[in-house]
Amino acid sequence: MTCLQFLPDPLDQAWLLQDPCIRATKGRAVARCSIRSHASIQTAPQSRRRDALISSPPAPVSGADDTADHTIEPAAAEPPWRQRLRAALGDLPAVRRRRLRSLAPTGAAALQPAPTEPQATADTRAGAASPPPPSPLLDLASNDYLGLSRDPAVLAAAAAELHASGLGATASRLICGTRPVHLQLEQALAAWLGRERVLLFPSGFQANLAAVCALADRHSLVLADRLIHHSLLAGVRACGARIKRFAHNDPADLERLLLSERRARPEARLLVLCESLYSMEGSTPPLAALAALCEHHRVPLLVDEAHALGVLGPGGRGLAHGIASVALVSGTFGKAFGSGGAFLAGDSLVGDWLLQSSGAFRYTTALAPPLAAGALAALGRIQADPEAASALLERSSRWRDALEAAGWPRPPGEGPILSVRLGDDAAALAAQERLEAAGLLALAIRPPTVPEGTARLRLVLRTGLPSGTLEKLLVALGPGPHLPSASR
Ligand SMILES: Cc1ncc(COP(=O)(O)O)c(C=O)c1O
Repeated sequence: MTCLQFLPDPLDQAWLLQDPCIRATKGRAVARCSIRSHASIQTAPQSRRRDALISSPPAPVSGADDTADHTIEPAAAEPPWRQRLRAALGDLPAVRRRRLRSLAPTGAAALQPAPTEPQATADTRAGAASPPPPSPLLDLASNDYLGLSRDPAVLAAAAAELHASGLGATASRLICGTRPVHLQLEQALAAWLGRERVLLFPSGFQANLAAVCALADRHSLVLADRLIHHSLLAGVRACGARIKRFAHNDPADLERLLLSERRARPEARLLVLCESLYSMEGSTPPLAALAALCEHHRVPLLVDEAHALGVLGPGGRGLAHGIASVALVSGTFGKAFGSGGAFLAGDSLVGDWLLQSSGAFRYTTALAPPLAAGALAALGRIQADPEAASALLERSSRWRDALEAAGWPRPPGEGPILSVRLGDDAAALAAQERLEAAGLLALAIRPPTVPEGTARLRLVLRTGLPSGTLEKLLVALGPGPHLPSASR
């Protein structure tokens, strides 16, 4: 409550009030503390403010006298926000609860390089019977498409920055969190992508939230591909816009929606959202066609290039590269860049608007300098070695052909994400288990992450896979359902 009072401007208050917890609290604990502009808070009489502060009974301190008379409002055993969470959990459909996976790090072994020599520990020297370490699985699941998370130049740059600048930025960009490496990275990305302005964010999720909130508000209607990432949906929810979906990668369906909306409400504020490489499908949209439609209807288009950057488009610059009418490009360093953090790229007007208005940019600790340095070095590696991405795309195409020839449904798209549609949850899980037994880590993706009846095995390729991996995979998978029985 006190925080709300001292926010500098009404826009920030509006931002915070999107938060359901704060909205819910407003009706109770802060019932009499109406959300006023900064000016009116400054002049509110002290007595009224104190009145508002004491209108919420304090929670009993653990161990305090239970016989105390809480006649104003009996304190519940649990604070209301916990009760709300508990109720929401209880309301989860049973089918969804059952499918929540364990968070045990089953794949962690795969992400560690296999030790070159067995390490003798005190325990093994003493002959103690400790359980054998899990044998490492070969990673066909992470988004480290170019293997840059362990690239020596990237690691060296991050380590140097770590020693020069420290681990964290220690403040937001507008306080004292900006380091030279942030500016270098923003400028290098802007030049690489041919956009006027780039702003860094601590994560792609946050960048997407900021992007949607910058281009839409509660008066807007967002038209989004049916399969857009959860972070974009969170942005739509945060800004209070309405949403309608168009069929996946289907410009004709988008056009139908644009025409009907324009006819019904010529002045409607619209925003179109899509991705350039869908992480659970592996598919790519006809981006030029989507952009042309948006330009024709004078509607901004936001493209999430999280999975495409470094891999697709000229020199790995993504599919939106060269399409000037794209209003904002969102990218993350958590995939092909092998680092962490993210950015938004647009023209200087949109950049300025974000800088001025985006709480998600202004009120968060700046991207950790070592991550920024790692991302900058990764960009250098991507620029210096465009062949890595083309070799990966060639390999992806070979794997698609081989899977199809083995009777498996051909994974859509051309990028390094190969989504083998199996339909049935049990079939997808069984495939994951067969691969794991063969030393390969690839995940079964099931509802609610993907629509009901579309469970699939998600294989992710990257540079540096050992030769023979495809053959190992095909043996582990066995013949696919489309292979004529005579050839099995
Ligand atoms: C399409 C897409 N957009 C955005 C994000 C969020 O990026 P980050 O991991 O940097 O938060 C992800 C990550 O899963 C993603 O797949």
